[in-house]
Amino acid sequence: MSSFYVTTPIYYVNDKPHIGHAYTSVAADVLARWHRALGDDTWFLTGTDEHGLKIEQAARKAGVTPQQHADRFAEPFRALTPALLLSNDDTIRTTEARHSQVVSALWRKMVEAGDIYLGTYAGWYSVGDEAYFDESEIVDGKAPSGHAVEWVEEHTYFFRLSKYGPLLLEYFEAHPDFVKPSSRFNEVKRFVEGGLKDLSLSRTTFNWGIPVPDADGHVIYVWMDALTNYVSALGGPGADKYDRFWPASVHLIGKDILRFHAVYWPAFLMSAGLPLPQQVFAHGWWTVEGQKMSKSLGNTIDPFDVVQRFGAEAFRYFLLREVSFGSDGDFSEAGLISRINGELANDFGNLVNRSLGMLDRYRKGVVPARGRADAAEDGPLLQAFAEGRAELLAAMDELAFHKALAAIWKLVGAANKYVDVAAPWTLVKQGDDARLDEVLYNLCEVQRVLGVWVSPFLPHKGPELLDRLGAADAQRTVASTAEWGGLPSGGHARKGDPLFPRIEVEKPAEAPAPKAKKEKAPKAPKAPKAAPKAEAADGVIAYDDFAKLQLKVARVLAAEKHPDADRLLKLSVDAGEAEPRTVCAGIAGAYAPEDLVGQTVVLLANLAPRKIRGVVSQGMLLAAGDGSDLKLATVPGDLPPGTSIS
Ligand code: MSP
Repeated sequence: MSSFYVTTPIYYVNDKPHIGHAYTSVAADVLARWHRALGDDTWFLTGTDEHGLKIEQAARKAGVTPQQHADRFAEPFRALTPALLLSNDDTIRTTEARHSQVVSALWRKMVEAGDIYLGTYAGWYSVGDEAYFDESEIVDGKAPSGHAVEWVEEHTYFFRLSKYGPLLLEYFEAHPDFVKPSSRFNEVKRFVEGGLKDLSLSRTTFNWGIPVPDADGHVIYVWMDALTNYVSALGGPGADKYDRFWPASVHLIGKDILRFHAVYWPAFLMSAGLPLPQQVFAHGWWTVEGQKMSKSLGNTIDPFDVVQRFGAEAFRYFLLREVSFGSDGDFSEAGLISRINGELANDFGNLVNRSLGMLDRYRKGVVPARGRADAAEDGPLLQAFAEGRAELLAAMDELAFHKALAAIWKLVGAANKYVDVAAPWTLVKQGDDARLDEVLYNLCEVQRVLGVWVSPFLPHKGPELLDRLGAADAQRTVASTAEWGGLPSGGHARKGDPLFPRIEVEKPAEAPAPKAKKEKAPKAPKAPKAAPKAEAADGVIAYDDFAKLQLKVARVLAAEKHPDADRLLKLSVDAGEAEPRTVCAGIAGAYAPEDLVGQTVVLLANLAPRKIRGVVSQGMLLAAGDGSDLKLATVPGDLPPGTSIS
């Protein structure tokens, strides 16, 4: 069995968690869950960074001791685990004894290697970054990050970083995947090629840190302290867990702390004679509604708030689907809601609702016999399955979460098309039981495969879907999706409530007429209305009234003349629901029934059903003009049925 060890940065306890912390932790969690599903012996570590001047200053400001401050702020970081559905195996705090022991031991090894010597440091220090800067790096009197710097002159223990420049470059050469993305690796190489100076590794002007062994008045530089967490949490060299998991498979970090992980940390490890991590992956940063996130702008995104309003799984999905891992991205509520409604509720949710709904209705929920699955309509589904699997495995290997989700959703799309084309309701009418069994089996199996694949991303909904399908443990591994047909026949599947409810967006009451520009940032779900309902002027309706209309994409499955009215056609349309709807439309003067099949039209879906000459019409199609000049309003055919139109 291979082992897999993934870490997040340990977070500073000077403030509350924000989206940046949530992001790395969710990515690490997805990787850990994926590797467990692959059968790897997996360990997932996160934690908090509790020493250093930054924390000491924050505590002083709050009027408490640094330890009290750390205890108080470590709590919300721990609470990220249940809130974001993280499956971390351990949470390290750098104020724990198990940690400081290993830091001191590492220090001693570096001393033994002859890499630590006493000297005097004079230069710039940024508390915000907890980092030293050269004169040449200072921009407008500040650190490159924008944080304030102060001039520092003190006795310090130096680490012979300069000695490790050539060794690091050699290592980089031999390990082309050591830093990802590769553009970031180039930055690191350029920095090392530029020549490394020895690094100040102790401070004397404050004492909130781990004491330098055998040297009164010095505390160990917070980054050496912090980086060692990756090893101390395993018990340090010699411990069983260390042997099982070190070197780490990947350290996930944000791009701003790459130098510490890709230069200092490997140099410390080389000095101490320990193996280097296999990979450091630096992800990008989030802006919020197009702006840099900052406390002073008051636009920091609180992960607990997002989870409470939209759910942990939707948040996880959004974070990893919205941007390619490694690039910067922008967080907006409109973007989040649109992915929830479009991809989770419509695409995935509807597939599950309609497929399990039909299984319930036509086969009392019993998974039918598999059949041969060799009808022409089965080809694209099976092909999408094979391609999706290959793309997913490759994407997860390179930590391209967005590509992995895109690959999974391609199969969702193919499965939705399969429902439309294989049209089980027609098979029922035709009494083609054998084919109906085959189609329903394929729909169960595709949901099982999707359930397995989405589980690392959606750790409740994925397993819930597998529960509904009655999948056993052996049918939940990635390996069990290597071939089509892993779900046994004869089991009982449960229909259940919609897997992903839509988020109903409340439009602001004061918005004028339907022509109002498309909203960028819709209100939170079920948020109280901002203002009393606007009075409508003559002939003008309030936005609220317009917002009551549920307009949906629908595909025409069948059309025939109304049995009792010349002007009308009777259509069967797929609106992304468990069953097609019947709609009567006064368009017989403009369209022959056969012209309509396959058209993607606009359905007013929440119109009360009405009996029209003996046929119950469940909705209305939008059209322009009248008589023979009439034209149905259509939308691009690649929009899945059920997509809402606003
Ligand atoms: N304590 C150090 C890490 C030590 S690891 C041995 C630290 N902590 S931090 O709390 O300031 O930052 C943690 C992570 O949050 C970093 O990876 C950083 O890149 C990330 N982010 C901070 N703001 C961010 C965004 N706006 N977007 C994405 N990630 C961001 O650094």
